[in-house]
Amino acid sequence: MGLETSCDETSASVIVDGRKILSNVISSQIPVHQKYGGVVPELASRRHVENVLPVIDHALAEAGVTIAELDAVGVTYGPGLVGALLVGVAAAKALAFAAKIPLLGVHHLEGHIFAALLTHPELEPPFVSLVVSGGHTSLVHVRDYSSFQLLGQTRDDAAGEAFDKVARLLGLPYPGGPHVEALAATGDSQAIHFPRSFTSEDSFEFSFSGVKSAVINYLHTASQRKEAVNAADVAASFQFAVVDVLAQKALRAVRQCGCLKLVLAGGVAANGALRRELQQRCDTENVRLYYPDIILCTDNAAMIGCRAYYQMQAGDIADLSLNAIPSLPLGGKLK
Ligand code: KG4
Ligand code: ZN
Repeated sequence: MGLETSCDETSASVIVDGRKILSNVISSQIPVHQKYGGVVPELASRRHVENVLPVIDHALAEAGVTIAELDAVGVTYGPGLVGALLVGVAAAKALAFAAKIPLLGVHHLEGHIFAALLTHPELEPPFVSLVVSGGHTSLVHVRDYSSFQLLGQTRDDAAGEAFDKVARLLGLPYPGGPHVEALAATGDSQAIHFPRSFTSEDSFEFSFSGVKSAVINYLHTASQRKEAVNAADVAASFQFAVVDVLAQKALRAVRQCGCLKLVLAGGVAANGALRRELQQRCDTENVRLYYPDIILCTDNAAMIGCRAYYQMQAGDIADLSLNAIPSLPLGGKLK
């Protein structure tokens, strides 16, 4: 069983042999946080407390298995909101103790990366992964099932965070990514040139606060001049600026690592413009692109169960002292 409570989704999943999903129940709190324009940590923790046991029961029932039939339980223990993580960690420890099964502590981003393994049964490391979510933007070289090398990450805003902030500026609901994408579909991505940051040859670091500020300035100037703004053009041009940088760096990382496989992961991996741009560039360079089904891109417990399965194979098992680590570094797992 996989459990995920790091942010605003309470999720439990039963999977077999690491790759076959029997159930993947996701209880989203989006309606709770929408009116605040972002996740309110204390509200998230309380909802997880209310939801975690019903969600576990639901996942077991849908899979048609009992607690006694579980072989192990894996749980996200970082990074994420501490109060939210603690709920999943406590539930997983209770389950492991009561059922006398191994407990596995999973890194949230490693879970996102492994989501692609659920959609592509033939996919195996080594590969490069571009992890783009609401909290993270990272390029990771996955050398084998237990070796992750962080090549670079964002210095400020994550890509999803930038989508959410720009959505707010355009008066769109939270979470903004899908709404910006929908609006962008009717706009011209070449209408406005927004800046790209850190595109130098040797850097795998990202920065998205510049493009966000450029959107703020653009809207502010237009409002001062009392000029009408074409919101669809703003959305499309912003999205293109983000996608362009992500695609350039991802392909450069693949070339440097020489593994010709790119795995897209995280909530922003659901973005069609990003998928199309990466596909085009991968086709040109003979690189195979993998991405998870849309439902496995955003937070879910199946990806945590998949990652936990491979940790179990490697003997990377936790004990009941496992604690939530809100800023758990991927580099901490560097082997
Ligand atoms: O991975 P995730 O569910 O949560 C984190 O671990 O952060 O990612 C959520 C993020 C949000 O910022 C959301 O706006 C973004 O993923 N997102 C998208 C799309 N769908 C979700 N961003 C751009 N285009 C999308 N279609
Ligand atoms: Zn996530």
